[in-house]
Amino acid sequence: MRILVTGKNGQLGRSIYKIVNTANGDNLSPNEFIFVGREELDLNSESSIINYFDNHDKFDIVINSAAYTAVDQAEEEQELANQVNHLAVKQLAGIAKEQKARLIHISTDYVFNGESDKPYIETSETNPINVYGKSKLAGEKALQAVMPMNAVIIRTSWVYSEYGNNFVKTMLRLGKERDELNVVSDQIGSPTYATDLAGAILEIIKNKEFREEDQATQIYHYSNEGEISWHDFAKEIFKIAKTNCKVNPITTQQYPTPAKRPKNTLMNKNKIIEKFGVKNANWKEPLNTCITTLKEQ
Ligand SMILES: NC(=O)c1ccc[n+]([C@@H]2O[C@H](COP(=O)([O-])OP(=O)(O)OC[C@H]3O[C@@H](n4cnc5c(N)ncnc54)[C@H](OP(=O)(O)O)[C@@H]3O)[C@@H](O)[C@H]2O)c1
Repeated sequence: MRILVTGKNGQLGRSIYKIVNTANGDNLSPNEFIFVGREELDLNSESSIINYFDNHDKFDIVINSAAYTAVDQAEEEQELANQVNHLAVKQLAGIAKEQKARLIHISTDYVFNGESDKPYIETSETNPINVYGKSKLAGEKALQAVMPMNAVIIRTSWVYSEYGNNFVKTMLRLGKERDELNVVSDQIGSPTYATDLAGAILEIIKNKEFREEDQATQIYHYSNEGEISWHDFAKEIFKIAKTNCKVNPITTQQYPTPAKRPKNTLMNKNKIIEKFGVKNANWKEPLNTCITTLKEQ
C-alpha cells in the first residue's frame, strides 16, 4: 500500500503521523505512509500538484488533510481559499480517480448555517454563511462530481490538538496572562481531538471493503460526542489545567469577527460509527488527554 497524507504540518497531519509512527500504531506500517507539506505539494498551484504526482509512483489511498483553515482571513482571501479548498480538491479527485486510488477528504461543520435545532445528518441541507464554509462546500461538491466512487468526505468540527494554533492552546496561553476572559456562549458545537479524528480515518483505511471494493462516494460526520458552548469549553479547559482564570459569557454580537460563525453545528455521527465501527469518546476525556500531554511537553 502507498498512502499519501497531505498537510503534514497541520493538526490532523501530525496526529496521523504520530499514531502511525508510534510502536504498534494501530497495526499500520509506517513504511506505507508518505507525508507531504506545501513545500513539495502546494495546493495553491495547479502545476505543483501535477508535478508532484508525475514524479511519484501511484498511490493507493490519498488522505487530504491540508486545507486553507484561516476562517476570518478567508473573507479577504476568497480566491486563495477557493483554490486550496475547492479547485485543488477537484484536481486531487481527478488524479485519485485516474490512479484508481481511494480519496479521504476532510470537510467542515461550517457547510451548515447553524440554524437547525437538531443535529445535522449527512444529507441535511447545506448553506454556508462564510467564505471558508463556501470554499469547503464547493470542494465537497467538486469531489463528488469528479469522483462519484471510492471517496470519503468527513465533516468535522472544532478541531484541537497539541499542535499548531487552536482554541485549547489559545485559552491555555491567555489563561496564564490574564485574570479573566470573555468567551462567546451562544455558539454550540462538538470539539474534536485531532488524534481521535486521525484514529477514525485510520479505521476507515483498515476497512477491507473500503480498500478492496468499489463503493459510492459518501459523506460522514465525525466529532467527539457531546455538545458545549465555547464559553463552557473554556471553563473546562481551565478546570483541567487548574488555571485560575474567570470566564465571562458574552454573545456573538459582543464579539464581532470578520467571518460569521454558525450558531449550532451539532452533527449526528451514527453513519460513520455504524459503517466503520469508529470509537467515539465524549469530548471531556480527549480534552484531558490533550492538556495532560501539553503539560508534559
Ligand atoms: N481546525 C478546525 O477547527 C477544523 C474544523 C472543521 C474542519 N476542519 C478541517 O479539518 C482538516 C484538518 O484541519 P487542521 O485543523 O489539521 O488544519 P491546520 O492545522 O490548519 O492544517 C492545515 C494544513 O494545510 C496546509 N496547507 C494550507 N495551505 C496549503 C497549500 N496551499 N498547499 C499545501 N498545504 C497547505 C497547512 O500548511 P502549513 O503548515 O505550511 O501552513 C497546514 O499544514 C481541514 O480540512 C479543515 O478544513 C478543521
